[in-house]
Amino acid sequence: MRLIVVGTGGMAKNHVEHFARIPGVEIVGAVDTDATRLTAFCDTFDIKKRFLSLDEALAWGEFDAVTNVTPDKAHHPTTLPLLAAGKHVLCEKPLAENHEKALEMTEAAERAGVVNMVNLTYRNVAQLQKAREMVISGEIGTVKHVEASYLQSWLVSRAWGDWRSESKWLWRLSTGHGSNGVLGDIGIHILDFAAYGAATDIDHVFARLKTFAKAPGERIGEYTLDANDSFSMSVDFANGALGVVHASRWATGHLNELKLRIYGERGGLEVTHSPNGSELRGCLGDDTETATWKVIEVPPVPTNYERFADAVMTGSSQDPSFRHAANLQRVLDLAMVTETERRELKV
Ligand SMILES: NC(=O)c1ccc[n+]([C@@H]2O[C@H](COP(=O)([O-])OP(=O)(O)OC[C@H]3O[C@@H](n4cnc5c(N)ncnc54)[C@H](O)[C@@H]3O)[C@@H](O)[C@H]2O)c1
Repeated sequence: MRLIVVGTGGMAKNHVEHFARIPGVEIVGAVDTDATRLTAFCDTFDIKKRFLSLDEALAWGEFDAVTNVTPDKAHHPTTLPLLAAGKHVLCEKPLAENHEKALEMTEAAERAGVVNMVNLTYRNVAQLQKAREMVISGEIGTVKHVEASYLQSWLVSRAWGDWRSESKWLWRLSTGHGSNGVLGDIGIHILDFAAYGAATDIDHVFARLKTFAKAPGERIGEYTLDANDSFSMSVDFANGALGVVHASRWATGHLNELKLRIYGERGGLEVTHSPNGSELRGCLGDDTETATWKVIEVPPVPTNYERFADAVMTGSSQDPSFRHAANLQRVLDLAMVTETERRELKV
């Protein structure tokens, strides 16, 4: 499989490092509108073909698949011509800035009959996959209550760099640059984490979003800092369970931590994923009487990168698909409406 990388910023490094280790995958080219970033990236990873626009790459055309690692706003305009050219696409999350564009991309991909996947990274967490399996097999009984959080602290910590001076953080704070804030950026991850782990879809949503003051005039250079940076949400799931989901970039002391707690009639499960590793704990059977939690060991699972490569090479589609990401995008869109209307909405 001949792969090109579109967008050679922070996350693209992760993509290339993973894809380079997969047998049968050859990274044949890269595209970025920023010449300096493109050259540095291609030199580092020894990528031969370099393009300053997607049109140039398409005119060359000698590739089968694309990993799209451009900023959120660029996913829609870059993915559509790739699909029209019959290329398989792994697109970064969120699929688009809103449900309408995400659906247009989904329909175009399905019409083209190509492999289409979205990089909901935390599907790679084996503990999440195991929790879902346990829910589906009935080990904890009917799920009644779900708690999910995604905590980051890059607005209060310099561990990942200085958001005040780096474009890769500033575009994430600005709706004018196509960001839906923390909701669009990591809300999509935690909604997928919660619904996938609990093995049920989100049915109703009510959210509160907040944008805190962070710079004089709420502006830095060309960036207006108006995107939400903290949200809390209550949800109903299709199976009748109730849930609370929240995320923030102000979670002092948590660089990047996802937590999911699933409570069923006969047991509870807790998945934690952070830079310190991943863990699944369960409180099952007689242990529910004493509230004793035990770690459940889990073997690794294939990554989204491996599953995308496998899908392209075998011609079989795999999850998470564009359609799944478009459905999640609808929840995100409705969450923003609920903040304005202050009432629960059906998905
Ligand atoms: N799945 C995850 O866990 C995860 C983690 C981080 C980022 N992301 C996603 O990855 C994407 C990229 O994020 P990032 O942190 O790498 O951003 P970034 O700003 O560091 O890099 C984006 C790159 O894309 C380039 N670019 C912009 N428009 C382009 C276009 N039209 N054609 C080609 N190149 C273009 C920019 O010049 C830049 O080099 C975003 O959608 C983000 O949400 C996902």
